[in-house]
Amino acid sequence: MKMYKLAIAGGGSTYTPGIVRSLMDRLEDLPLSEIRFYDIDGERQSKVAVAAKAVIAEYTDSIKITETTDPETAFEDADFVFAQMRVGKYAMRELDEKIPLSHNVVGQETCGPGGLAYGLRTIFPMVELIDDVEKYAKESCWIVNYSNPASIVAEGVRKLRPNAKVINICDMPVATMRNMAGILGVEREDLVVDYFGLNHFGWFTKVEVDGEDRLPELREHISKWGLLTEDISKIDYRHADSSWIKTFKNIKPIMDFFPDYIPNPYLQYYLLPDYIVENSNKEHTRANEVMEGREKSLFETIRKFEETGILDDAFHVGVHGIFIVDVTVSIAQNLAKRYLVMVENNGTIPNLPADAMIEVPALITNKGPVPEYVGEIPYFHKAMIEQQLASEKILVEAITEGSYEKALQAFTLNKTIPSAIVAKKVLDDLIEANKEYWPTLE
Ligand code: NAD
Ligand code: LMR
Repeated sequence: MKMYKLAIAGGGSTYTPGIVRSLMDRLEDLPLSEIRFYDIDGERQSKVAVAAKAVIAEYTDSIKITETTDPETAFEDADFVFAQMRVGKYAMRELDEKIPLSHNVVGQETCGPGGLAYGLRTIFPMVELIDDVEKYAKESCWIVNYSNPASIVAEGVRKLRPNAKVINICDMPVATMRNMAGILGVEREDLVVDYFGLNHFGWFTKVEVDGEDRLPELREHISKWGLLTEDISKIDYRHADSSWIKTFKNIKPIMDFFPDYIPNPYLQYYLLPDYIVENSNKEHTRANEVMEGREKSLFETIRKFEETGILDDAFHVGVHGIFIVDVTVSIAQNLAKRYLVMVENNGTIPNLPADAMIEVPALITNKGPVPEYVGEIPYFHKAMIEQQLASEKILVEAITEGSYEKALQAFTLNKTIPSAIVAKKVLDDLIEANKEYWPTLE
């Protein structure tokens, strides 16, 4: 039986123990001989590794575990690398959210100026990771990437390392499907969906169960309650946080306006930006909610485990952990399973640029994702996508060319920003905050 060596880059992530539990639940499908935890913050990583190792110990003692800050040790001979880096960690996420809000612009980690800022921090570290993996890992090694902002990361990788074996994935479409399934009273795996867009910027155009169109029923439900199951316990811990409950409720006003398709929940930031800003607390954003919630409870669980040997079941696997392992199993076993992932367009949506990194259904094989033909999309969605795409593509040009003007164009084009005047103010404040991370923009 083939045994795989897997490295987790961003081993200190709050998601690591949950992902590890998901890996352990699937050892029959993805037998592992080694797991390497790799992070640039050795201290954070060794803390989180305490929990990850305790999870592994519940299942097996035959997996070699390594914790390292050295890329060679992490990636040598690896078969798979999971990437989940948060460049600048929560301290910078907080600024990505609060600086735009201080200018009355959406403050979010992946959408709007916060996402552009996070993108400017992440592209080069991602390229460095790809280069390290290419240098040390097996030629067949795939990087399965969750690192956000995934759309900008995907475009940066396409442009700077076009041949890299990276598959960019996101848990939002599967989380949205989890809610749909809960509403319809079926399993998520029973849903057959069509979807098109960019990451955090797309629409479900078909939802079927056993060949039956269930979109009408979902529309009816959403028109009353948004994309929430009446029983919230069906939603995993992260998405049960109050900000996520609001987000799923906001699907209602969006679909009251545009009932055809079910929007990705992140579209609230582009379609309802004024409403989102009015209802944001400028002093307390999602970064604070996570630091006071998921991050704090992880470190408390670890402290308790170290003191008592009792491991609270705080590492819910959730769709996040399940999905990355599903995708990896499909690559490893060449199952060609159909999942929503990011791919280069190349005619999948003929009325969008061929070099757009789109999110669509694709068959996941050992040669990578094979997208399913989508066809032409309506003008409204095409126009929105093209504006966002231009913002993201110009941002990548800004960082590769070190161009301030292009960065300003990218900010100005972003639909969450009302004018070039505001774009400049937000950009200048973010430049100041990101001195340590961004290349000089001139
Ligand atoms: P976290 O801050 O808890 O963990 C991220 C880790 O990355 C930290 O330990 C940090 O030290 C490390 N890191 C930073 N730069 C690095 C580098 N250059 N090389 C290696 N490690 C590095 O963050 P989190 O909230 O657990 O999120 C992890 C990642 O997953 C983030 O990128 C987040 O945006 C992303 N995420 C993606 C999805 C999705 O569906 N795409 C969903 C949730 C989170
Ligand atoms: C996170 O998990 O922190 C994010 O990446 C998404 C969210 O829940 O805000």
